[in-house]
Amino acid sequence: MSLKDTINLENLPKHLAIIMDGNGRWAKKQGLIRAIGHENGTKSVRITVETCAKLGIENLTLYAFSTENWNRPKLEVETLMKLLISSLKKELKTLIGNNIRLNSIGNLERLPKSAQKELLEVIEKTKNNTRMVLTLALNYGAREEMLNAVKIISDKVKNNIISIDTIDESIINQHLYTQNLPDVDLLIRTSGEHRISNFLLWQIAYSELYFTEVLWPDFKEEDLYEAIISYQKRERRFGKTSEQIK
Ligand code: IPE
Ligand code: IPE
Ligand code: MG
Repeated sequence: MSLKDTINLENLPKHLAIIMDGNGRWAKKQGLIRAIGHENGTKSVRITVETCAKLGIENLTLYAFSTENWNRPKLEVETLMKLLISSLKKELKTLIGNNIRLNSIGNLERLPKSAQKELLEVIEKTKNNTRMVLTLALNYGAREEMLNAVKIISDKVKNNIISIDTIDESIINQHLYTQNLPDVDLLIRTSGEHRISNFLLWQIAYSELYFTEVLWPDFKEEDLYEAIISYQKRERRFGKTSEQIK
């Protein structure tokens, strides 16, 4: 029996999020420049997106560029933005062919105009697709997201659109970039780093975390299956006792 056959399709994460890390180290290991690592990382993106859609995962969120990644050398930031634009152009067909809707989270205004334009175009062209929502986190930082939500909510309170007493978790949810997405069930981080790096802090409150040593450009179908199988072996108790779950 192959690894894939051991996956219980009735118990897939409804929302899978991935911190795609290790492109630079993958390149360095082979004496290549970091840009080649990023380029090869896009192949893993395609495989992961297609595999998730085929399995029946409804929401996939990929951390593509953080608010902190602007601090990288200018040339690397430019490479990443160029790759974003060319991947969007190239992958539109894949998204349409697989009935996948593109979505984004993060503050898009700081992205180059050409990237914004391409992104909005693909979002528009895939807006009626229903099989899976692929969300790209671009210029995303969880603290920036929360700050932004606090500002919008405060403004609504000031203008009597909402009252302080009605602010609850669902109001906060509705003002985050992820407003239409369910909480994350499984968070994967590649490359052996055991940290969250300002990704989806609110939404991962009860996520299962999965860390793998595999560098992102090496992450393929089997690695995804392993992560899902690990997830399915866990008991999600949400504060209850094990006996209450059974
Ligand atoms: C992930 O790989 C890609 C982005 C953060 C954009 P890295 O570029 O962080 O690779 P490492 O961590 O330096 O190996
Ligand atoms: C996190 O990776 C951001 C993305 C994957 C886009 P980094 O490589 O930037 O994270 P740190 O800085 O090492 O924590
Ligand atoms: Mg990294």
